Amino acid sequence: MRNRIFTDFPAHNASLWGRHTLKLGHSLAGLDMFSDESLATLIETVPASRLAITTMAATGHDNRNWKYCDRAGLSGREVLDAVKKGRLWINMSSIHEVDPYFATLLERMYEELEVLVPGFNSFKQRLGLLISSPDAQVYYHCDVPGQGLWQLRGKKRVWIYPNAEPFLRTEELERVVRGAQEEEITYEPWYDDHAVAFDLEPGQMLHWPLNGPHRVKNYDMVNVSITTEHWTPELRRHFAMNYGNGMLRAVGWRPRSRATSGASFWPKAAMALAWSKSGMQKKTGFKRRMEYRIDPRAPLGVLPIDAPVTPSPANDPKAGKLRPAA
Ligand SMILES: [Fe+2]
Repeated sequence: MRNRIFTDFPAHNASLWGRHTLKLGHSLAGLDMFSDESLATLIETVPASRLAITTMAATGHDNRNWKYCDRAGLSGREVLDAVKKGRLWINMSSIHEVDPYFATLLERMYEELEVLVPGFNSFKQRLGLLISSPDAQVYYHCDVPGQGLWQLRGKKRVWIYPNAEPFLRTEELERVVRGAQEEEITYEPWYDDHAVAFDLEPGQMLHWPLNGPHRVKNYDMVNVSITTEHWTPELRRHFAMNYGNGMLRAVGWRPRSRATSGASFWPKAAMALAWSKSGMQKKTGFKRRMEYRIDPRAPLGVLPIDAPVTPSPANDPKAGKLRPAA
């Protein structure tokens, strides 16, 4: 019989799932697919569109310090070296579409959940992999689908905040749902008095209520984690309501209802669906801009994207292997 993924799921958790934050045990830490060797291969395999490499300030919560970095043609090993010594956050999104091992893992995760939580029927599940530096952080933000964070290597602290005003401003959530801004939202240091902080170690996962704002700080070691995302009919109705309200607001209306059923909801849902299917929403979305490139020899693992390339044994011009800056 194969090992269960959830190692610690008392029956009463079924009534908490999706409504309250849960910290659960899992059996995935230590698998070969999370070794340095496997991660290096994955970095070289995933399409660039699924590989977001970012750097950030060590302290503070200024979203303007969240900068995208180019892999600059480096090998997976070189990127991992930069992660070990620098301050980087690598997010490989939807790798279940690239690697069959992750596809199988994702399928098993949700198969088990649907047995453990009667009535939980999810679709459009996604799996991402995070590789991040000692002391790296992710600023206060909210995500759009239902989600989980699974710790595999290292240790991090995760703060989860209430998913309601003033911690989650309605207009900002609508903009995030519409893709008109990234997931970062307004943060005030006093919000921390109302957060619940969790230390997450290998073999533990967190699941929290929809759109719950959160921020993350690694302890002083490299971290490897999985993110999972899913939709349910209920989550999709929330999405349609926020999307529809955001569209109305964008053209000067002031939406009065946040209901996810009834007479005010369905026309809004139809409008949101028609708009998102038309592809027009992509034209209003934000664009990522590369400002740095990875360099394992730089103190923080990155250099400005237009900095000159300096020769190294790995890209010695005499050997004819000088890498371009971007
Ligand atoms: Fe997140």
